[in-house]
Amino acid sequence: MSSILTSLGRTVLAGFVLTLLIVVLFGSNVGSPGWVAFLFRYLHVLSGVMWIGLLWYFNFVQIPSMPKIPDEQKPAIGRVIAPTALFWFRFAAMATVLTGIILAILNGYAHKAFTLQQPFLAIGLGMWIALIMAFNVWFIIWPNQKRALGIVVVDAELKAKSARTAMLTSRINTILSIPMLYLMVAQQNMGL
Ligand code: HEM
Repeated sequence: MSSILTSLGRTVLAGFVLTLLIVVLFGSNVGSPGWVAFLFRYLHVLSGVMWIGLLWYFNFVQIPSMPKIPDEQKPAIGRVIAPTALFWFRFAAMATVLTGIILAILNGYAHKAFTLQQPFLAIGLGMWIALIMAFNVWFIIWPNQKRALGIVVVDAELKAKSARTAMLTSRINTILSIPMLYLMVAQQNMGL
């Protein structure tokens, strides 16, 4: 057991094996029409949790903690923790978008949702908000973070400005995440 728990890769694999076991033992819908779409819904929620979990980690934990960390310890965050968190953050955002769009296509309402037609208004609005958030991640937060963390070397003034832009955009995404999640779950559950 400890050989599983001491490796992140084996720990994650164990989670998938356990899921598979549950499906094999209790899954009565496997292979039925719609099951592949369900599988994408599952992968979509998994990657969405990774994305929004990290967004909330940055906003609830890392950003508020920075002023309390002594200057000589700050590089541990900037050089080690933040780059790793940002790696999973942006690829989780990409996986969420891809699985979400595939899901909408498999469900047969991608066009109606993107054009905000009833009865797919809730998911359509959620998808547009989430797409804006993903755009922010890849094209505003990440380029600015690269300058802020010194991955791309710039002068001190631009570095400080980039850190602020990344932080404010991350805050915008935190605002958007709240209605976005409401809309995601509203579609199936009469929330709108
Ligand atoms: C551009 C990005 C996204 C797209 C295109 C997208 C698309 C979709 C679609 C098509 C559904 C199925 C709706 C239905 O018929 O019930 C869905 C459900 C859902 N999505 Fe997203 N989504 C995106 C981002 C996110 C994010 C960031 C999260 C965060 C966790 C998320 C969480 C969920 C949840 C929890 C459901 C509900 C599943 C259910 O009720 O069974 N989505 N999404």
